[in-house]
Parts: sequence; C-alpha cells; structure tokens
Amino acid sequence: MFYSLGRPIDFKLLRQDDKLDLQSSFEHSKTSKMKVTVVGAGAVGASCAEYIAIKNFASEVVLVDIKEGYAEGKAMDLMQCASLNGFDTKITGSTSDYAKTAGSKVAVITSGIPRKPGMTREELIGINAGIVKEVSANLLKHSPDAIIIVVSNPMDTMTYLVHKATGIAKNRIIGMGGALDSARFKYRLSEALECPTSDVDGMVIGGHSDVGMVPLIEKAARNSVPVSEFLSKERMSQVVEDTKVGGATLTKLLGTSAWYAPGAAVSALVQAIACDQKKIFPCSALLEGEYGLNDLSIGVPCVLGANGIERIVEIALSDAETAKMKESAEGVKKTNGLLDSVLA
Ligand code: LAC
Repeated sequence: MFYSLGRPIDFKLLRQDDKLDLQSSFEHSKTSKMKVTVVGAGAVGASCAEYIAIKNFASEVVLVDIKEGYAEGKAMDLMQCASLNGFDTKITGSTSDYAKTAGSKVAVITSGIPRKPGMTREELIGINAGIVKEVSANLLKHSPDAIIIVVSNPMDTMTYLVHKATGIAKNRIIGMGGALDSARFKYRLSEALECPTSDVDGMVIGGHSDVGMVPLIEKAARNSVPVSEFLSKERMSQVVEDTKVGGATLTKLLGTSAWYAPGAAVSALVQAIACDQKKIFPCSALLEGEYGLNDLSIGVPCVLGANGIERIVEIALSDAETAKMKESAEGVKKTNGLLDSVLA
C-alpha cells in the first residue's frame, strides 16, 4: 500500500504515467540512498528543495548558501513541513561548507543574482559566471561523480561554462530551461484552448532567453490533435509570444524572477535522473553536430535517466523552425563569447 500525505493512494484513480511515477518514487525512497545538493537557498533553490522533498524520492537534500545561517534556516522551515506534507526526505542546510554535500548523485546550481524588471538574463553574466565556476569546482571536489543541473542565468552560457571549466563528461551537465519554458508553453496553450494542461502537449527548444526560445507550435497538440485545428494563426502566434516572455512577464509582476515553476521544473529533471525514468525533457545540452550545431549548450530534447543526458533526440524540424534554432544558437554563442575573461 502506498500513501500520500498520510492517506492511502487509490491507484485506480491515477493515470498510468502517474501510477508509474509514484510507484517508482516510493520504491526508490524505500530502497536507496539518493542525496541531492541544491546550491543557492533563495526562492528558486528553496522551491526546488521543497518539490523534491514532496515527491519523496530522495533520501536527503542539502541546501547550500553563502549567506550565514540562511540555508540552515530554510532547511529547518522546510523540515517543519515534513509531518504536514508527508515526506521522509531529510533536508539540511549549510553555509558554504561543501563537505556536507559529499556523495551527492545530483547537484543543482541556482546561485547568483536573479534578474530585476527590465533586465535580460544575459545582463547577469558578469556576476554569475564567476559564482557558477567556483560553485561547480566546490561541488565536484566532494561529489566527483555528481550530475550537475545548471539553473543560474544566462543559463545556456552558464551550462557551457561548466563544461569548459570542469571538463567532466557532457552527459553529466544539464541546463534547466526548456522544461520550464515548455511548462509555460503548455500553460499558455491550455489558456488559449480552454482545456486543462493535461490535455496539451508541447515543447520549447532553443536558448532560454526572451528572443531565443523556439516554441514548437506546429508540433503542439491537444490529445494528439494539432492545435492548428482549434486555434487561428494569430492566436497561435500570441501563444508563442506570451511563452517567450514568460519569465519577463513574471519578473515585471513580482519584482524579481519566478520560483515555483522553475523549482518544479528542476525537481522533475532531478526525479527523472534519480528514478532512472528515461523521460524526454528539452534541456540545454552540449551539441557536437546535432541539429547542425557545434560547441555550445542549447535546449534540445534529451532522454534523462540515471546517467544524466542519455540521448539527444534529433527531431525533424520544419524550415522555419530550423531557421529560428540557428538564430537562437547565434545569440547563445554571442553571449558565450563574453566568457573569455572568466575562462582565462
Ligand atoms: C525564469 C528563470 C528561472 O525563466 O530563468 O523564470
């Protein structure tokens, strides 16, 4: 018998996918030690830790922050939710003591500054590049086999920086952007289609930036029916535009960048790895010829499992999608060019 929030789960009421997810989470939490580190205990980092704990697949989450006592405080607050939300994951906090992160299977980097209203993600590079480089070195010192998920912005460039700075195998470096952008795309699609998001399928590839995102609207579907059967060309363009500024819209409303959906997106990637799910998520991956692109990290569909990125899936793109992807890659490469002084 499996329980959620202290109540028995009626498996007959769950969809098949959810059943398998839940079953594998519960079985995993009962049988294995799965330590996850989240660096940066700000809103995004704490939200990641919270969602990971609620999904109950990890034995331990370690939150790390440079601000004295901050990660410890967030961890304690989250642990006081355990009996209420029914999770067994142990959450601990540490002020810059990476020894406490030793033996992590997955490490998430959210550190750095978030954007303020009117800022682009690219403008954060000056401060965040140095931080991400130092954090990845500290993580690998104590967890040499960890799979690293990069969230800090500009995310595609920060992911590329981790490749260049650490030299670890490319399957172990994953940029989180496409999973979030796709969730925002599905939200906008469900709004336009006036249906639940569970009826909608859609993916966003390309760079995680307002101009670089490539929402694959031609491939988006409502329960296998192309969305063009339901929506006008104008409405589809509106969905694409709203998706691309998904983060900026929230930054304007909140005064800082979003955290719930980013946290949920990261937790989905961590779960896919921790539970070896072999699910497809668009992630920023180092490309070596895939999609005709080389020497950059950018969002493409990836199969995620115990080894991190187990496969990059090359889907057929239309001419328009290919052109947008090429333009997006040029934008990411331009931002990567700003890394020279950090990598020197
Ligand atoms: C966002 C940040 C995580 O898009 O890049 O909300």
